Amino acid sequence: MNKIRTAVVGLNMGLEHAYAYKLADRSDLRWVVDLDEEKAAKVAAELGCNYTTDWTKILDDIDAVSLCTPHHLHAPQSLTAIAAGKHVLLEKPLANSEEDCLNVIRAAEQNNVTLMLAFVVRFLPAIRKLKEAVDSGKYGKPISAQGWVEAFLTPAPGTWFASKEKLGGGCLFSHGCHYIDILLYLLGEPNRVSHFGTRVGTEWMEGEGTSHGIIEFKSGAIAHLTTSWGMRYKKPPAKFHIHLTEGFLELDNSMWTVTAISKDGTETLYQRPPEYPTRRGQNVLFEIEHFLESIATGQRPETDGHEILKSHRTIWSMYGSQGVPVTL
Ligand SMILES: NC(=O)c1ccc[n+]([C@@H]2O[C@H](COP(=O)([O-])OP(=O)(O)OC[C@H]3O[C@@H](n4cnc5c(N)ncnc54)[C@H](O)[C@@H]3O)[C@@H](O)[C@H]2O)c1
Repeated sequence: MNKIRTAVVGLNMGLEHAYAYKLADRSDLRWVVDLDEEKAAKVAAELGCNYTTDWTKILDDIDAVSLCTPHHLHAPQSLTAIAAGKHVLLEKPLANSEEDCLNVIRAAEQNNVTLMLAFVVRFLPAIRKLKEAVDSGKYGKPISAQGWVEAFLTPAPGTWFASKEKLGGGCLFSHGCHYIDILLYLLGEPNRVSHFGTRVGTEWMEGEGTSHGIIEFKSGAIAHLTTSWGMRYKKPPAKFHIHLTEGFLELDNSMWTVTAISKDGTETLYQRPPEYPTRRGQNVLFEIEHFLESIATGQRPETDGHEILKSHRTIWSMYGSQGVPVTL
């Protein structure tokens, strides 16, 4: 097997990519890159690869790159990598505007390179099991889904993620995009949406730090998602609950266990098996392997630009929705 020469740019979330490339059989991790040279040198020493602060200088030595940088850099950096003929695994989101998203998608198609979005949650085995259970029909038709994405971010005023323009919105776009994508994956095409966001408790952010969104699907099912970076104390019941006409499905908070309740009683449909050790990079390895396989076989990655644009468009519609004022 010819190994694919890889690099990772941006070494915070990108660290997980770098560890996963190190684990992946198809990958030859050649470079790690960060503007912080000390950080890049440390990671390179840990993983036995080269490091640099300028990723544009290493393009001749790689076939594929993970871009794990702030959102406003996603479109320009992807376009540079694609123009050089490199395959791109881009951290979410694709870009902060529809126009930038379409430019990146078109560039990848014109240059015949693989463009995949790093929607890590999609590739988790428990999500695959949940999808299989919903699609099986055994539990009937989906009626209602609820998701809880509750986190606390240390206030960081002045950073790129405090800026609405650089982040591309608030926590729904930045973090909730994974779970909007999962709702579309599980429940199909959306029909109508509504959304409320607040900055209460996350005033350091320009965009919403807490979001409540509702989606009505073409099937008639409805879903509600809470996303927050302001939940200092939390006790979410699960990541997802799905009520169906003949049953109930739950994905737990760790996203490793799927439980079903139906006339047959309560069953555990999936649990973390021993072949997936709790090692660094393991969760990202599922998506990295799909990316490398897509490059090797020429197949369309499941989370390509077109697929991911659907969830971005859903969020942009949510941001555009307006509630009805109440008069008491
Ligand atoms: N999938 C997930 O669960 C998840 C979690 C966190 C972040 N992310 C995504 O990862 C990306 C990065 O987020 P983060 O939280 O790691 O951001 P961050 O700001 O904490 O880290 C970004 C890193 O990129 C480096 N960097 C910035 N510009 C660079 C450049 N031009 N060349 C080289 N290095 C550069 C910075 O020095 C920094 O070390 C975002 O797209 C974010 O949405 C995904």
